[in-house]
Amino acid sequence: MRYYIEDLSQHEGQSVELKGWVYNVRSSGKIKFLLLRDGTGICQCVFFKGECSEEAWNQFDQLTQESAIKVTGTVRPEKRSPGGFEIGGQNLEIYSIAENYPITPKEHGTEFLMEHRHLWLRSKRQHAIIRIRSEIVSAIRDFFDGRGFTLVDTPIFTPSSCEGTSTLFETQYFDTKAYLSQSGQLYGEATAAAFGKTYCFGPTFRAEKSKTRRHLIEFWMVEPEVAFNDLYDNMELAEQFVEYIVQRTIKNKKEELASLERDISKLEIVKAPFPRLHYSEAATIIKKENPDFIVGNDFGAPDETIISSKFDRPVFVHHYPTAVKAFYMKRDPQNEDESMSCDLLATEGYGEIIGGGQREESLDHLLQRIQEHKLDPKDFQWYLDLRRYGSFPHSGFGLGLERAVSWICGLPHIRETAAFPRMYGRNYP
Ligand code: 4AD
Ligand code: MG
Repeated sequence: MRYYIEDLSQHEGQSVELKGWVYNVRSSGKIKFLLLRDGTGICQCVFFKGECSEEAWNQFDQLTQESAIKVTGTVRPEKRSPGGFEIGGQNLEIYSIAENYPITPKEHGTEFLMEHRHLWLRSKRQHAIIRIRSEIVSAIRDFFDGRGFTLVDTPIFTPSSCEGTSTLFETQYFDTKAYLSQSGQLYGEATAAAFGKTYCFGPTFRAEKSKTRRHLIEFWMVEPEVAFNDLYDNMELAEQFVEYIVQRTIKNKKEELASLERDISKLEIVKAPFPRLHYSEAATIIKKENPDFIVGNDFGAPDETIISSKFDRPVFVHHYPTAVKAFYMKRDPQNEDESMSCDLLATEGYGEIIGGGQREESLDHLLQRIQEHKLDPKDFQWYLDLRRYGSFPHSGFGLGLERAVSWICGLPHIRETAAFPRMYGRNYP
């Protein structure tokens, strides 16, 4: 039987075997202390001279931080041990003694830690963040799977752009060019026509030459697409979805959020419905605090912060100017300068976490848009077929996983939300 530190409370009084890595060691006379880390938690192991095996006692002083070992001993309650239980050590087996470990309890600079990301992941804070990310991923899947959505994965190699040509990664595809997917949306529209309610969830790529605390080059996006949903149905789905993933994370990842010192009260109130602002209302609010803002432009990060600071829940901004949005956005029939788009801005200055809207259904309008955006209609013939064969109103959105993790964890920078983040200027390790 394998025993894990997170399950020790179920084994009080029993003799167990734990396998893991040395987090810390300390000796004082007839007692030796060891903090053991096994990936599920950290546990104190105490060895008393005379009570443990002689071999364990003699080997103990070789142990260095991150050495891989097996400890055998009895589980007993101990308030001062990290998980509330400790091991009364009997035996110790060494798999390997670690060399001088580069990450020590002293402060290290971010560049140093990023360079050692493969090791940094073992630290408590990184452990908490990645466990929360894992919970959010499973909450995302459960939300859509539980509501009759079909998961349909979309390709990474694509023949054309979805979100504008300026952030495309080009690669050779035998004797033609291909681009890494910026979004699965266009394919999602095809799958929505086949399955009604679908979502895709996978990596997406943007060649963004900017170093900000919100941008990654490679990030995961979940993109639902629903046949016959309009812009307002779309916002309703998005707010129920965000409420679900936030509340589920608070419920299942209390300890991790506490170790990040996340103020949970700011997340507890993330309940639908969320406030909604027309772009022109949002622009008026921004203009008062940032006179340089030009009405009609897209929002910059500081502008989004101005908006979100007015609300304690995430806020939708809808009807952005057609000119600042992608070619596929439906224009409002009442005013063609406005698009039926919606972005969701998170609380506490985290900015846009969702982008989406209602899609253009008319073949003629779409062809015109494609030309205006200087895209090649040849590349989009399959997409235009969706308008030729039973065109239908439909809407969807994309949530950036790492933006959501950053916000829910309350992190100062997005780089810690991925195990091995790809950023402008960093592709190692
Ligand atoms: O607003 P975006 O560009 O929308 C789309 O790609 C649509 N096709 C989605 C859809 O309607 N199906 O991106 C959606 C979200 C953003 O709100 C943001 O959360 C995230 O993806 N995102 C990024 N996250 C990290 N780094 C980047 N460089 C990101 N760019 C977008
Ligand atoms: Mg966007």
